[in-house]
Amino acid sequence: MSFDFPTEVVKEGKVSVVVPKLEAFVKEPWEYAPSKAPVFYNPLMEFNRDIAVLALQAYQKMVKLEISVCEPLAGCGIRGMRFAKEVEGVRKVVVNDINPEAAKLAEFNVDRNKLAKLVMVVNGDANLLLAHYAAPRRRFNSIDIDPFGSPVPYMDSAIRAVRNGGLLALTATDLAPLSGVHPKACVRKYGGRPLRTEYCHELAVRLLAGCLVMMAAKHEIGVQIVFGYSTYNYARVYATTSYGAKQVDNSIQTMGYILHCFNCFHRETSKGLILTLKPKCSECGSKLSVAGPLWLGKLWNEEFCVLMQKLAEENGKELKNQKRILKLLSLIKDEIDASATYYVVDKICDKLNLSVPALAKTIETLRKAGFQATRTNFNSKAFRTNAPAKAVKEAVTKLSHS
Ligand SMILES: C[S@@+](CC[C@H](N)C(=O)[O-])C[C@H]1O[C@@H](n2cnc3c(N)ncnc32)[C@H](O)[C@@H]1O
Ligand SMILES: [Zn+2]
Repeated sequence: MSFDFPTEVVKEGKVSVVVPKLEAFVKEPWEYAPSKAPVFYNPLMEFNRDIAVLALQAYQKMVKLEISVCEPLAGCGIRGMRFAKEVEGVRKVVVNDINPEAAKLAEFNVDRNKLAKLVMVVNGDANLLLAHYAAPRRRFNSIDIDPFGSPVPYMDSAIRAVRNGGLLALTATDLAPLSGVHPKACVRKYGGRPLRTEYCHELAVRLLAGCLVMMAAKHEIGVQIVFGYSTYNYARVYATTSYGAKQVDNSIQTMGYILHCFNCFHRETSKGLILTLKPKCSECGSKLSVAGPLWLGKLWNEEFCVLMQKLAEENGKELKNQKRILKLLSLIKDEIDASATYYVVDKICDKLNLSVPALAKTIETLRKAGFQATRTNFNSKAFRTNAPAKAVKEAVTKLSHS
């Protein structure tokens, strides 16, 4: 088959895919090539897709079922095909895109990879497709929403089309609202306030997770967050669902607010959907800023992460990003139980006019003082700790002067 635009072949994971030749579509170096091409393809999202494959493999190992998967916003079909080829126990994948050129290219790629028996390509609107699969016994075990910008327009349909106990994956590339650059847009879309703090990317993941929880609650579906991270230009959340009012109440109980003092770095959490306190900083008395409501619970399920790590070690040789993924998973394993929010050493030193001590030394000092302290996957210059902001500043100041 020929396409009336320049194409090239790329290999990713275990599939070999025809994609638009991106350099043919940019006239200026600053232009964003994936959205200029007639079919969307972004090579920089390979890491996102590698993790998606590992997460689905881990999920399949946990449920030990034959699974059906849907990718309603598929572009050239690369992600859905990788699910079919690289995840054991996948018996059906439905990939869909509203762009006829994308569906045509995906169909071609499915044939090229001899996946026609497993992968069905649809050309239509994602919400219409998901509505078609929202009835009992038609639902998918897993749905991966990977849109342009926000996944919110597809969230409700995805919740209705995923089975009880299923896995939902959401990418949000609209980090400007989620990380507090456009707070009003975040409130409108995600129903929670962001904050432009040093840990705004963690807040982005928590706001996305919280939005999912509240949307699923309306359908009496509880949500457990099993994996979340933010890198490059997106936030990503993986969650499992469980039907029932009690499960929903449990999820909602994990919602709340993060309160932050821009004067002294103090932060605290407030559980529940209603914030009753007039927030004042308990360390310096300044007015606290509020983020939320958002997901306050753990961002990772230990069993899920351990399985992903094992799979990345054992089967990850064909993953170009194996090393980076193992690093991410190892950081996450260490921070699963740590407190919400993190401190960025440079940010503290900027404010206090100090030279920047090594991160490892800072963590060591806090541990020696009897606090928990650990690195975080969100920022290579940051750490989580249960030490109060005052103790954190004291440790950094001491190290900086030594
Ligand atoms: C970010 S791209 C998908 C990339 C793909 N998931 C991957 O991993 O390579 C988003 C896709 O959504 C498609 N799209 C936009 N609106 C849609 C809609 N309402 N229904 C279905 N597809 C849609 C676009 O044509 C585009 O291909
Ligand atoms: Zn304060």
